[in-house]
Amino acid sequence: MAFDVAGRVILVTGAASGIGAGIAEVFAAEGAVVVAADLFADRLDAEAHRINSLGLRGTVHAMQLDVTDAAAVERALDGAAAEHGGIDAVINSAGIFIDIDPHDIDTDAVRRVMEVNFFGALNVCSAATKHLIARKGSMVNLATGGLDRPLPAQLAYVASKAAVVELTRTMALALGSDGVRVNAVAPGYIDTPMIRRNYTLPNGELSAGWEDQLETYRSLSPLHLVGEPSDVAWQIVYLVSDEARFVTGQTFRPNGGFVVPR
Ligand code: NAI
Repeated sequence: MAFDVAGRVILVTGAASGIGAGIAEVFAAEGAVVVAADLFADRLDAEAHRINSLGLRGTVHAMQLDVTDAAAVERALDGAAAEHGGIDAVINSAGIFIDIDPHDIDTDAVRRVMEVNFFGALNVCSAATKHLIARKGSMVNLATGGLDRPLPAQLAYVASKAAVVELTRTMALALGSDGVRVNAVAPGYIDTPMIRRNYTLPNGELSAGWEDQLETYRSLSPLHLVGEPSDVAWQIVYLVSDEARFVTGQTFRPNGGFVVPR
């Protein structure tokens, strides 16, 4: 069977929500052993329970983790490897977005974004390296389509994701001879709590402007689509599978044609 990830141990960060949760579900559907990590234990447990209730071939194991805490990340990965017999892939989906006004830059906010998006991914890649060398596994890091088409308010966000892409490129070069592949995925707009946040009312409902915003996002795609988490997850299944054995150091763009670089 092509793209077979059944039985593989896949650690996904940011798995309580959006793309990370979608990745956990798709890998569980494909029979993987998913270690689902997130800062927020309650939301993560609920998501893991929801996926495990679907009767899929694989399983999801929830693990509370703050990716900015390097020591905790190392303990968590060592623990997961001991419990499940190793780690075959790590997928860095944990991330935050903070609007920055380039005319009045809040450097603390920029640091927070770098801390989670860049250092979080760095901590996981660093702690995962020995485990992935042992299994000739792979890493996948979430970047953003904003790298090709940035908005001013994304100053911190795109800077952090540019750093993630450079981490990906250098780790790919460094670990290739160990048989470890490292790639990035730079999605276009994916319908998740991250892009709904500014339109979510205190009672959890979406404000009137959301439908217009969704239409704006759709209009950016020649397919007239906004992505779903599974659109990103399937790309990552390919990247983790043996069929991608020749693929490393690259940035992939599941983006509905939002940008079409040469
Ligand atoms: P989301 O906000 O729905 O989920 C992000 C998850 O990361 C949350 O569950 C959050 O609790 C977790 N997280 C935040 N800080 C953490 C920490 N310190 N330790 C552990 N977990 C932490 O966001 P979404 O949309 O699912 O985004 C996932 C990734 O994809 C992010 O890296 C984002 O930058 C990237 N992305 C998202 C796009 C979109 O349109 N939604 C487009 C391109 C990239």
